[in-house]
Formats: sequence, C-alpha cells, structure tokens
Amino acid sequence: GVRSSRQKYANKGLTTLYKHSNISPCFFLLLPSGVCAGQDVLPPGPVDAIAGGNVTFTTQVGTPDYIAMVWNFGSGQHVATASSQGVKVNTKYAGRAQMDSKNGYLTLTSLVSEDSGIYTISIVLSDGTTNDGTIELRVLKPVSDAIIKSNLPEAIEHNSTVVLNCSAKGSFLKFTWTNGTTPIVADGKRLTLAQGTSSMLTITDVFRTDLLGPIYCTAANNLQMNKSPPFNLTVYCEYCTHSAEFCLATPPIQEWTGLYPHRSRSSWLACTAVEEYTCRAQNAKTQRTVTSSGVSFSVISGVKVTGPTDILIAGNSSANISCQATAGTVQTMIWLKDGTALAPSSHRVFSNNQSSLLISPLSREDGGEYTCQLINPVSSGKASYTMVVNYGPEAVKVKIDRDVPEKHDVTLTCLVLSFPPAALTWKFNGTVTGTTTDKYVIKGAADTKSGTYTCEAYNAVTGKTTSENTTVSVKPEVDNGLSDGAIAGIVIAVIVAMCVAIVLCSLTSRSGPG
Ligand SMILES: *[C@@H]1O[C@H](CO)[C@@H](O)[C@H](O)[C@H]1NC(C)=O
Ligand SMILES: *[C@@H]1O[C@H](CO)[C@@H](O)[C@H](O)[C@H]1NC(C)=O
Ligand SMILES: *[C@@H]1O[C@H](CO)[C@@H](O)[C@H](O)[C@H]1NC(C)=O
Ligand SMILES: *[C@@H]1O[C@H](CO)[C@@H](O)[C@H](O)[C@H]1NC(C)=O
Ligand SMILES: *[C@@H]1O[C@H](CO)[C@@H](O)[C@H](O)[C@H]1NC(C)=O
Ligand SMILES: *[C@@H]1O[C@H](CO)[C@@H](O)[C@H](O)[C@H]1NC(C)=O
Ligand SMILES: *[C@@H]1O[C@H](CO)[C@@H](O)[C@H](O)[C@H]1NC(C)=O
Repeated sequence: GVRSSRQKYANKGLTTLYKHSNISPCFFLLLPSGVCAGQDVLPPGPVDAIAGGNVTFTTQVGTPDYIAMVWNFGSGQHVATASSQGVKVNTKYAGRAQMDSKNGYLTLTSLVSEDSGIYTISIVLSDGTTNDGTIELRVLKPVSDAIIKSNLPEAIEHNSTVVLNCSAKGSFLKFTWTNGTTPIVADGKRLTLAQGTSSMLTITDVFRTDLLGPIYCTAANNLQMNKSPPFNLTVYCEYCTHSAEFCLATPPIQEWTGLYPHRSRSSWLACTAVEEYTCRAQNAKTQRTVTSSGVSFSVISGVKVTGPTDILIAGNSSANISCQATAGTVQTMIWLKDGTALAPSSHRVFSNNQSSLLISPLSREDGGEYTCQLINPVSSGKASYTMVVNYGPEAVKVKIDRDVPEKHDVTLTCLVLSFPPAALTWKFNGTVTGTTTDKYVIKGAADTKSGTYTCEAYNAVTGKTTSENTTVSVKPEVDNGLSDGAIAGIVIAVIVAMCVAIVLCSLTSRSGPG
C-alpha cells in the first residue's frame, strides 16, 4: 500500500526531475538507497484538511541549497516548481497553489475533494543529490447534520428492541454516543454498537432508564465534530390494569370519549417508579392514538394505620388514629369503620388533611376495624387498624323467664354489656350462690326460693363492678295478680280460681312422688 505507492510516486518525481534538470538517471542509481528514499524530506502523513480550506505541506529540509524543488500530485500531475528561475505554478493550480522558494513549502487553497491524494516533492541539491518525499492529503467534507433516528416512535419497556441510527455528513467519520454527558458503552449483549458510514446502537429489551436521555451522537473526524440534537424516546411501561380502570372512569377520559366515540382501547401506562402518567386512547377505525398530557402521580405504597397501643377504656381514654403512606401522592383519603364510611361527629374529629382522626372520649361503639383508603388516579392503597375499647359492665339487666308453666322452673338471665366479658356472680338475698354463668335457674319454684336475686358483673380491665337486683316471688297464689283486687270482677275471680286450682293440682301431683 503506502510503501509501494511511495516508491512509485518517488520514481515519478525522479522522471519529472530529469526533464527539468537534465541529470543522467545513472547518477542516481549510484547513490546510496537511503538518500533516494527521502524519508525525512516530509513529515509523516496523512494530512487532513477541510474542503474549502487550505493546507500547507511543510518540508523538513530547512533552506536547502538546491537546483530545483518540484511538487507533483498523483500520477505525475505537476503542481509547482522552484528553481533559479523562481517559482512556477502549473496553470491548473493558478491562484490555488503557492510555493515557498526558500523551504519548498506548498500551500493549496480552496481545497476540493479531488485534491485528495499523494503529493510528492523532489529536491535536487546543488551537489547533485536528490531527496524525495511523499505525503498523502485527505480533503474531508465538513462534518454536519448528525442526527439520531429511531426504528420505533415509542417503545414498551422490557418488550421493545430499539435501534437508534446516527448518521452525519462528512468524511472519515467516527461516532460516539452519550446519555447526557455519560458515554454509552456497548456491552455486546443488550447494548450493541455497529460502526460504519453511520452508527447503529441497538438496545434489546429496552429499559426506561436506557433512554431517559437526552441521548446525543457525535460524529467526528480528525478535524471536526458535530453533535446531534438531543434525542428522546418515550419508553412506556407495561399496561397497568388498575390504572386502565381509572382511565375509563374519570372525567378526563369523558372528554376524549366525546372526541373519539369509537375508542376501542384506552389505558394508562404506568410503572411504579414513574412520576408522570399519560392516558392513551386509540380509535379503532382510524387507528389514531391520542395521548393525554402527563399527569404527575406517584404510586401509593406502604399505607399504614397507626392507633393507640395502650389499653383503652370507654369514657376515660381517647384515641388518635392516623394514616400514612411511605410513597405516593395522596389525592383522596377515605376512612371506613367496619366497612362503612366514617363521618365526623362531636367526639370524632378529623385533622385538616384527614390524615388523622381523634376520638375523645372513647365510647364502646368506637371499638372496631378502622380502614384508611388512599387513592390517586393511578393507584390506591389501604390498611386497617383494629381498636379494642374496653367498657362496662354497663346496662346490667336480669330477665325472668317463667313462660314454661309445665316445668315450674324460673330462669333468670343476666344481660351485661362489657368488654372483656364480665365475671358474673349471682346472689340470693345478699348471699353468694356459687353460680357464675349468665343464667340462674330457680328449680321447682317454691316459697323458699322467693326473695332478691342479684346479678353482679365485674370487668377486670376496667375495674368496674355493676349489679342488678330483681325480686322473684314464686308463691303459687299469684298474689301479685290480686293485690290490686279492686279491679277484680266475678269473671276474673273465676278464671283466677281455675288457674290456682290447676297450679295446685299440678304441684301436688308433682311433689307427691318426690
Ligand atoms: C486560505 O488561504 C487564503 C489565502 O492565503 C486566505 O485568504 C484564507 O483565509 C485561507 N482560508 C483558510 C480557511 O485558512
Ligand atoms: C410485548 O411483546 C409481545 C411479543 O412481541 C407482544 O405480543 C406484546 O403485545 C408486547 N406487549 C406490549 C405491552 O406491547
Ligand atoms: C426530552 O425530554 C426532556 C425531559 O422530558 C425534555 O425536557 C426535552 O425537551 C425533550 N427533548 C426532545 C428533543 O424531545
Ligand atoms: C380514668 O381517668 C382518671 C383520670 O383521668 C384516672 O384517675 C382513672 O384511673 C381512670 N380510670 C381508669 C379505669 O383507667
Ligand atoms: C395524631 O397522630 C398524628 C401522627 O402521629 C399526629 O401528627 C397528630 O398531631 C396527632 N393528633 C393529635 C390531636 O394528637
Ligand atoms: C397531613 O398533615 C400532617 C401534619 O399536619 C402531615 O404530616 C401529613 O403528611 C399530611 N398528610 C397528607 C396525606 O398530606
Ligand atoms: C329472702 O328475703 C325475703 C324478703 O326479704 C324473705 O321474705 C325470704 O324469706 C328470704 N328468703 C330466705 C331463704 O331467706
């Protein structure tokens, strides 16, 4: 390549030189080969210059005592010669070439790409020796119009293979890619780079972060460089179902519904880490897709409801229940108690932004499951807290059950409101009976069982004791019914008499065998 063409052009130079100086070629053949090779006459090339610009070939011979210095181009095209008659420029180079008669420097102006090629200088010294040198000139087209183009208008994360192509005008271009100012380095697997007259960056299974950009491509050669305009590619994330529901349900899409009545598909494209969401609606017939302007919402996560951890006692404690999320923009906050919406009341106050709820004083109705639901258009989250309110015993009542005439047992039931359930103690005429269940049965009612029955309830957590008395008269005369005898008529008396008879008979027959 270079060496053989050097030799070739050097020989051409010699040929030209003979014509000019009338020196016998045999003379040169006798010279040591090193001198003829002329390696030191010119610096090593190639020399690059921009089209339309200038180039000066410098020599490394100082100001030699010469007979002639001859510049040729390509295969024997004469450019300029300096000799005792001064500098002569080939008419083809008139106005474009200047040669320095002292040192042999050749300047070419208004370069065109056809000027690219091998330039040769031959210097015939006054002692008859000749030194040759060759140098390559590359006239480069200006670097411009670097631009990145994508194979896809938009991409779906983890799903799309994005091929970015960077092209530019210019010669001998090399391309580099940067994301912002960080060089993009191919890993040969997911990210590959192919260089040619343009550069191709292939990203397989693109990530959102790959093209957050802006991405730049720089095309450069030894003299110039040109940076592309910033490139962005929207990498959408997988479709989110819950967001899609929102998209269909909320007012913004209704506008669109009006615009695109044949919309077949609409969805929110969202991912957990992205702050901005857009809604896309596509018209099935036209295939036209509209994308909403971005809405900034981050996905709600880490919802937690906190409430009091100590023992709560109705009428004595208060509770501050608060709801927080570790991430996400909260747009709506809903409080539910045992599944139904919770409204403020005189003893239930919400903080200004609804994030906490103060209940004071607590009543037994306040115990239950509190759910806080945080909502924004792209996500929602909820959490619950179960509040245990200890109360009672309250509203103790003793129910007397004597609706079983054939049995003659009387069942007393103690009804107590208490949490935790109260410990019950039954007393008769003030004496502990040993019954601790909620029912007390007066067996085979008789005179001796008449008296005052007491149900005493004790809540170990609240420390409260409450009791309720009831007087039971189990005398068979049904005195109670006749004590207000003034109203008794004959008919009533007969009925009562019959009743008494029945009761007596049954009592007698019953006690007989026992
Ligand atoms: C090239 O040389 C000409 C003449 O010497 C000069 O006027 C011009 O400015 C130069 N151009 C460049 C690009 O150096
Ligand atoms: C992901 O790619 C598969 C196969 O190319 C395609 O069927 C699917 O629709 C793509 N998913 C999305 C969200 O574009
Ligand atoms: C690229 O995206 C950034 C951030 O979203 C934006 O500011 C910029 O204008 C976009 N550039 C282009 C060329 O679209
Ligand atoms: C109720 O509150 C009062 C004062 O705040 C306190 O002295 C008392 O011990 C409390 N009672 C219970 C059962 O916690
Ligand atoms: C309730 O708790 C929240 C969170 O700890 C706190 O910000 C708020 O000030 C509390 N409210 C009251 C009334 O103590
Ligand atoms: C509500 O306000 C409290 C303090 O006033 C703040 O700590 C909390 O982050 C707010 N919550 C929301 C959802 O804005
Ligand atoms: C219980 O008290 C009542 C009234 O005070 C009384 O009539 C009755 O005889 C008492 N019963 C017993 C078993 O002491």
